[in-house]
Amino acid sequence: MSVRWQTIVALMLASLLAGCGGDTSKARFAENSALAKQLLPKARKAVQKTLDDHFGSPLDSVAWLKLPVNYGKAEGTVKTVDGQKLSVEFNAEASDLESLTSPELTRAGLLFTSGSNAGKQVLLAKFDSKNSTFETLPGLESAPSSGDQFVAAGHFLRHGRKLYARHCQHCHGVSGDGDGTTAKYLNPRPRDYRLGVFKFTSTASFPAPIKATRDDLKRVIALGIPGTYMPSFVPMLKENELTAVIEYVRWLAMRGEIEKGLVTELKGEYSKDRSKDDGIDKSLETYLSETYPNFVNEIAGEVGEKWSGAEEEGTPIIPKKPRPQDTAESRHRGKELFLGNKAKCVNCHGPTGRGNGPMTEDFQKNPDTNETYAERGLYDTWGQPIKPRDLTRGIYRGGRRPIDIYRRIYAGIKGTPMPGNSQALSEDEIWDLVNYALSVPYDSQAPKSPKPHSVAEHSMDHGHAN
Ligand code: HEC
Ligand code: HEC
Repeated sequence: MSVRWQTIVALMLASLLAGCGGDTSKARFAENSALAKQLLPKARKAVQKTLDDHFGSPLDSVAWLKLPVNYGKAEGTVKTVDGQKLSVEFNAEASDLESLTSPELTRAGLLFTSGSNAGKQVLLAKFDSKNSTFETLPGLESAPSSGDQFVAAGHFLRHGRKLYARHCQHCHGVSGDGDGTTAKYLNPRPRDYRLGVFKFTSTASFPAPIKATRDDLKRVIALGIPGTYMPSFVPMLKENELTAVIEYVRWLAMRGEIEKGLVTELKGEYSKDRSKDDGIDKSLETYLSETYPNFVNEIAGEVGEKWSGAEEEGTPIIPKKPRPQDTAESRHRGKELFLGNKAKCVNCHGPTGRGNGPMTEDFQKNPDTNETYAERGLYDTWGQPIKPRDLTRGIYRGGRRPIDIYRRIYAGIKGTPMPGNSQALSEDEIWDLVNYALSVPYDSQAPKSPKPHSVAEHSMDHGHAN
C-alpha cells in the first residue's frame, strides 16, 4: 500500500521553496547514472519506473510502507461529516500525535481503511488541530460516513524533506548523492547516502557491518563533524525537526541502496553489452513480468531489515568494562600496541600518529574490484582518496568522548580503510589504545614548538570543536 501526493502538493511546496534557492528545476531524483548506464536501455527504464512508483519524486513523494521509515502515520475514525469537512477522532496509538499540529498534515494523503471508500484516498486541504477537523479536497465518489476508519500518512517525511531542502541539499544533493551545488569545493566531500554506508556509528562491523542508528545520525547532525564542513544543526533545528530530517536521510539512503540492488541484479543478464544478443528483448520482457516484481520486494525487504536491525536493543557497542584509569602505564601499553604488529595502527597513522604511515605511500588495491588504484595512498568506499587522521591535532570527527574513540577502534570507520579490531584486540587493549590516542596531541606538543597552521587549517581546527 502506498500513499502518493499529487501535483497540487508539488505546486504548493514549490512555491514555498522558491524563496530559498528553491529546487523547482530539480523536482526529480537524479538517476545513479554511473550504475544505470551499464544496463540495457529497457532494463534501465524498469529500474527508474520502480523507483518512481515506490519513492515518487522529491516534491511528490510516496510512502512505501514496507520500509522501516517513520513517514508519519495517524489512524483514526470519522465522527461527523459536513460536506468536505470531516471531524475525526485519532486512535490513541497514532504514531506521532504531537506532530499532528504541524501544517505538514495539510495536504497529506488520507486513506480510508473501512467504509464505502475503503482503499481510496483523498488529499487534505486543511487541518484544524484544535477541533480535529479535516477539510478534504474533492475527489471521493461517495461521501464518507461516521465510523469510517482512515490513515493519514506522510506528513512527517514531508516535513523532513522541507528541512533537508533548506539545510542539507546544497551539499548532500537532491537525491542524497553528495553532489549538491557546493559539494565540489569541499574536502572531504559531503556524504553520498546512496550506498547506505555511514562512518561514525555506534554499531559493530563484524561479522557484518550494522547500519547507523537513528541516534548515530542524530549525533552527527546535531554536533556536526569537527574538522570538516559538515555543520552542527543544534540549536538551529529543534528536536522534532532533527527527527524528521533523520527519517528523510534514512529514506534517501534506502532509496539509493535499492537502486543499486536492482541495477546489480539486472546487470547479470541484461547488461548493455548484450544488446545484440538474440532474443534478449524477449527474455528481458519475460523476466520483468515474471521475476522482477518479486525481486523488488525481496531487495526492499533486505534493505529494510538492515535498517531495522540497527534499531534493535543492544546494538550500540558498549564495553563491559568501563574505561580504566588514564595512567602513564596504560598509555604506554597503548603506544606499544599502536606501534606493534597486532593492531598495526602505525601502518597508516605513522610512528608519531601524524597520519603518514607506510600504507599512505604504497599503491593500494580496491577491495571491490581487486584493481590497483592509479595513485598511491588510501581510498574510501566512495572512490575518493583519504588520509589517516593526524592524531597529533586532537580533532575527532566521530566525537571526542572516550567511548567514541573506543567505538572507532573496535568497529573501525565504515566506508574507510580504518579497520575494526573487535576480533584482534581485547577490551583492555582497546581502552589502552584509547588512552594513548587521546594523549598524542599533548605528548606531541611538549618537546617541539607547534607548527604554524595555514589560515584554512586554523579555522577548520576551531570550527566545530565540541
Ligand atoms: C556545507 C556542507 C554540508 C551541509 C550543509 C550539510 N552537510 Fe552533512 N556532511 C558534509 C560533509 C563534508 C560530510 C562528510 C564528512 C566526513 O566524511 O567526515 C557530511 C556527512 C554527513 C553525514 C554522514 C555521517 C556519517 O557518520 O557518515 C550525515 C548523516 C549528514 N552529513 C547529514 C546532514 C544533514 C541531515 C544535513 C542538513 C540538516 C547536512 N548533513 C548538511 C557536509 C555538509
Ligand atoms: C589501513 C589504515 C588504518 C589503520 C590500520 C588504522 N587506521 Fe585509524 N584511521 C584511518 C583513516 C583513513 C582514518 C580517517 C577516516 C575518516 O574519518 O574518514 C582514521 C581515523 C582514526 C581516528 C580518528 C577518529 C575520529 O573520530 O576522527 C583514530 C582515533 C584512529 N584512526 C585510531 C587508530 C588506531 C588506534 C588504530 C590501530 C588500532 C588505527 N587507527 C588503525 C586509517 C587507519
